[in-house]
Amino acid sequence: MQAVGHTLYIICVVNRIPADNNDKDNDKEMKTVRTAKELREAVGAVKADGRSVGFVPTMGALHAGHVSLIERARADNDVVVVSVFVNPTQFNNPDDLRTYPRTEEADSEKLQAAGVDIAFFPSVEEIYPEPDTRVFELGPVAEVMEGAMRPGHFNGVAQVVSRLFRMVQPDRAYFGEKDFQQISVIRRMVEIEGFDIEIVACPIKREADGLALSSRNVRLTPGQRAVAPAIHRILAESVDGASGRSVDEVKRAVTDAINAVDGMEVEYYEIVNPAGMQPIAEWSEAEGGAVGCVTVYMGDVRLIDNIKYPA
Ligand code: PAF
Repeated sequence: MQAVGHTLYIICVVNRIPADNNDKDNDKEMKTVRTAKELREAVGAVKADGRSVGFVPTMGALHAGHVSLIERARADNDVVVVSVFVNPTQFNNPDDLRTYPRTEEADSEKLQAAGVDIAFFPSVEEIYPEPDTRVFELGPVAEVMEGAMRPGHFNGVAQVVSRLFRMVQPDRAYFGEKDFQQISVIRRMVEIEGFDIEIVACPIKREADGLALSSRNVRLTPGQRAVAPAIHRILAESVDGASGRSVDEVKRAVTDAINAVDGMEVEYYEIVNPAGMQPIAEWSEAEGGAVGCVTVYMGDVRLIDNIKYPA
């Protein structure tokens, strides 16, 4: 009987041998913490061992774009921490905050599958035991585009990310280039606060049809979803058609083309120098190449995207 028992046991173990290293890591137990104290303890143990920490802050409703940030963080660091927190201070529109998707159970499963070591799901009270009244001097990078359209938004981002950085104390933090301007704002906040944290910008992840992955995409109706890839298509075509045209001509052509798509309304299309995020009038102002940043409303869903115009 015993021999049979052993044989069965060995078979079970063999079946659980992972297919590759990635799967092996994903098999480990993810630690879920909800308080800053638990988080500090978990990260403290990692730091005490001299291991590096990569951090991916998110607002949940996780998709393949977030997973690509996690994969990059896993490649660069010994341990990966992900926070899932819908930060109220960065929403200047109460309806946007109310309708922002919240999918904690599915998020937790995705984080486990992605091989995250520590998942942080704090409450609002945990992040803001008292109201955060700090006003960051973010300067010109935060004054244009999203900064102009969403007053207070970037200050709220700076508030929450600075708090999370203090709690997690990562070596590196990972942000997606879909929120292109946000990365500059975070770099500025890091400078102001004097954090010794490397900010790693990661490329936009797209659906096969070109639509930039976003937690807001789930709010599109099937009809809106079907036409939404036009945003990226029009941006990409504008890069091909940019030579011989002025910045203004390209801006107008993109804006008109997107507005001509059924159900789309451009909030802004700005072509900026990524060094400083200021709008340019001449292509030569952006020595390393310019970036076109767009915000489009489809009904009440606000989508953002961007494209690089090589120098
Ligand atoms: O990009 C986001 O999801 C948020 O702005 C961030 C960085 C997680 C801060 O809440």
